[in-house]
Amino acid sequence: MKIVRSPEAMTAWSDQLRREGVTIGFVPTMGALHDGHRTLIRAARLKCDALVVSIFVNPTQFGPKEDLAKYPRPIAKDRALCRAEGVDVCFEPTAKAMYPDGFQTTVSLPSLARRWEGEARPHHFSGVATVVTKLFGIVRPCLALFGQKDFQQAALIQQLVKDLNLGVKIVIRPTVRDPDGLAMSSRNVYLSPHERAVATTLYKSLQAGADAIRQGVADGQAIHTVMTRIVQKEPAMTIDYLAVCDPRTLELLSSVTSRAVLLAAVRLGAVRLIDNLVVAVPAKRA
Ligand code: PAF
Repeated sequence: MKIVRSPEAMTAWSDQLRREGVTIGFVPTMGALHDGHRTLIRAARLKCDALVVSIFVNPTQFGPKEDLAKYPRPIAKDRALCRAEGVDVCFEPTAKAMYPDGFQTTVSLPSLARRWEGEARPHHFSGVATVVTKLFGIVRPCLALFGQKDFQQAALIQQLVKDLNLGVKIVIRPTVRDPDGLAMSSRNVYLSPHERAVATTLYKSLQAGADAIRQGVADGQAIHTVMTRIVQKEPAMTIDYLAVCDPRTLELLSSVTSRAVLLAAVRLGAVRLIDNLVVAVPAKRA
């Protein structure tokens, strides 16, 4: 496995392979790789001839009070996972190489980024959209894979690629969960043993919302109440948002008639957990 740090060297490698007709798959990450990332890497490996994983803790998607400095960076472990999964290139640029002096262009999606994570983390999605656009320009993949765990991010990236004709096929893979249902996340390492036990409440509340829809509850507010009651039983958790939304626009649904995404974000100690479930109304009601 090659470790490439310079964006220019990364592009030269990709251009050469593309000239030879090789298909390049790409999994962008911020490192601290877990089984969720492993699933994306394996899926990309099966779909493409060559595979690039980027490891870059992107400073522009962190707010001033967020965890940029202490974000986990177990680089040796991350490289070992990539090597074991047959990754061809680990792209590890520095912040200076990605954002040199004079850098000024940003990408933003005002409508999709407005609510939910966008409200809680005002510059987050502009940072994500800008870095993903840059990474696509540098790596020049045919295909890029992202996890559904970050549902709003995934929606935004699909829109970005369409709007800017970036020519990258986007694949969104289902959320990978621990056996008790907690969605895997690099930030789960911050949870204390007690918080880790409590954290499953979030998934339970999403499941309860999904069950309500499957059992015939259509009213968005009633579904929201079902989810809220479960989280509220857990005193250590504070709700940031629980929402019943249209999966395409991420706007609130007053009534669920076909498909909905249940979006959730809570605070638990020093950690902010996010999760989601996409639910389809059973055929006889749709
Ligand atoms: O999901 C992530 O890990 C990051 O937001 C991404 C897409 C790698 C951009 O920094």
